[in-house]
Amino acid sequence: MNAGSLVIRSYSEDDETDVIGLWTTVFPNDPPWNDPPGIIRRKLAVQRELFLVGELAGRVIATVICGYDGFRGWIYHLAVSPTERRRGLGRAMMAEAERRLRALGCPKINLQVRAANAGVIEFYKTLGYAVEDHTSFGKLLD
Ligand SMILES: CC(C)(COP(=O)(O)OP(=O)(O)OC[C@H]1O[C@@H](n2cnc3c(N)ncnc32)[C@H](O)[C@@H]1OP(=O)(O)O)[C@@H](O)C(=O)NCCC(=O)NCCS
Repeated sequence: MNAGSLVIRSYSEDDETDVIGLWTTVFPNDPPWNDPPGIIRRKLAVQRELFLVGELAGRVIATVICGYDGFRGWIYHLAVSPTERRRGLGRAMMAEAERRLRALGCPKINLQVRAANAGVIEFYKTLGYAVEDHTSFGKLLD
C-alpha cells in the first residue's frame, strides 16, 4: 500500500474509537492531561477542521492535530499506526497539514519532539524541519 491510497480528511465523531485506539498504541506514556477523550473534545471546540485523520480501507491509521493562532502554526499528535510506517503516510499527513496551515496565511510551523525520540527527529529533518535553539517551557493551567 502506498501513500496514494490514503484518504486524508478532517476528523468526524465516528472516528473516535479508531483514533483512541491508535493513540493508546502510539503514545502509551502520554501524561494524564493528554487523555485522548479530553484532547478530542477540546480540539473539536477549536479549529476542528485542523484535526486530520488518515484512512486506509475505511480504517483510521493516522492522525495529526494542527492549530494556527495567528502567529505560528503548531503540530501535535502526528501518529501513523506501527504496521503502516515507512510507506510515506507520515509525510503525506504532514503535507496536508502544511497545505491547510499555509492556506490560512500561516508563515511558520513549530513543533516539539521528545529529545529521546531519535527516529521522529530524523523524520522531521527529512521533511525540512530544523532543530532550533530554544528552551521549551510549559505550565499546566488549573
Ligand atoms: C513519525 C511517524 C509519524 C512517521 O510516519 P511514517 O509514515 O513512518 O513516515 P514516512 O514513511 O512518511 O517517512 C518519510 C521519511 O522520513 C524518514 N523517517 C521516517 N521514520 C524514520 C525513522 N524512524 N528513523 C529515521 N528516519 C525516518 C525517512 O527518510 C522516511 O523516508 P524512507 O522511508 O523513504 O526512508 C511515525 O514514525 C510515528 O507515528 N511515530 C510515533 C509517533 C510520534 O512520536 N509522533 C511525533 C510526535 S508529534
